[in-house]
Amino acid sequence: MINQEIQDTLNSQMNFEMYSANIYMSMATWFDAKNLVGFANWMKVQYSEEMFHFTKFYDYINERGGRVLLSGMDAPETEWDSPLAAFENALAHEMIVTGRINDLVIQATEAKDHATVNFLQWFVGEQVEEEASVDGVIQQLKLMEGAPGGLFMLDRELGQRIFTPPVKE
Ligand code: FEO
Repeated sequence: MINQEIQDTLNSQMNFEMYSANIYMSMATWFDAKNLVGFANWMKVQYSEEMFHFTKFYDYINERGGRVLLSGMDAPETEWDSPLAAFENALAHEMIVTGRINDLVIQATEAKDHATVNFLQWFVGEQVEEEASVDGVIQQLKLMEGAPGGLFMLDRELGQRIFTPPVKE
């Protein structure tokens, strides 16, 4: 069983993962409206990543005999000044997620809940990848500044991204 405080924080993070999914789907709609379908595809894959994270928290809370509770969430933003602004927004968001995961690890460690600390290690590693993958696109967008064909080329590249669910441990 998990203690009530940890259950509450895990539920909060589970809901934050769904909020993250909503943000990325909102970004996908913005890119689709600009006919940047490759960027939109990248965001839709990111949506699936976040829903995978959501489900991972859901299953863990359940497995530990806790009660999964969905909550309401803020509406995501719908407009960005540029593709770069959208990805910079995404990176800022991922850094918030990383901070929340780190806080959860501290809380679980202080509660001597080793199972939750162990569960969270997957997310610690995942956040390194999440930040790196968003930052990779930011660096490409910055490099191509002023190159007219660059956005088109990058759009084609991002259109190749596919969602591959990680193997369940
Ligand atoms: Fe679920 Fe992008 O962190």
